[in-house]
Amino acid sequence: MEYLYFDEIDSTNSYLKREYQNLKDSTLVFAGHQTSGKGRMGRKWEDDSDSLLFSILLKKDLNPSRSDLLSLLCGVALHKTLEEYHIPSLIKWPNDVLVHEKKVAGILLEGVVQDSLKAIIIGMGINVNTKNFPSDLQGKATSLFLETNTEFDKVVFLKKFVDKFEYYYSRYLLKDDVFLDVLRQNSYLDGKQVFFNYYGENRHCVVKGISREGNLLVEDEHGLCQVKSGEVTLEKSYHQH
Ligand code: BTN
Repeated sequence: MEYLYFDEIDSTNSYLKREYQNLKDSTLVFAGHQTSGKGRMGRKWEDDSDSLLFSILLKKDLNPSRSDLLSLLCGVALHKTLEEYHIPSLIKWPNDVLVHEKKVAGILLEGVVQDSLKAIIIGMGINVNTKNFPSDLQGKATSLFLETNTEFDKVVFLKKFVDKFEYYYSRYLLKDDVFLDVLRQNSYLDGKQVFFNYYGENRHCVVKGISREGNLLVEDEHGLCQVKSGEVTLEKSYHQH
């Protein structure tokens, strides 16, 4: 992995999108603060300089049909990193990592397509030393500091994460998706009822697991089916009684 650091940048994902042709495969860019951080679905990702903000550029051996798996793989790498710090976490399909039911990190996977897939950019925002969240996020978000009352060294944390990422990614390239086993053991949505919007139609299902392709396996009155991450918005999830 090659590392680049900026005290301040618009967005590490946007930077890699602009510069991918000039940068090597496996470049990781991290920033102290983002002025236009991006979340999923066009949302903003605000930070107070206390979070770990980075993006990884992948240009080699890209496989469009397997690229959705990469955000799950990053979720697993983060779960394993947190395990080293004795912080229990669960991965919420398809893009979040939760600690005690609250979001501690978000993942934004973007592809650069020009005739074919030229690059994949995986952006992660991890709430490391965040002390306060804006009122709309309180109750939904947490940080490693709030969970443990300890300040974390962001660079040490990042290096540990990269070790895990590289391990699972090298296996993934060999189509050995061992990260899926870890995911299945630590999947937040398993057994929960979810309500989602499926092409305009509201559906209620129970989550049965995650398929080898990284799709969510759900069951409703029509039977078992698989949902791809791009196809649904999970509106709500709640425990089954
Ligand atoms: C989400 O949960 O909506 C995904 C959030 C992803 C945020 C990270 S921060 C680093 C990288 N750069 C961005 O602009 N976004 C991602």
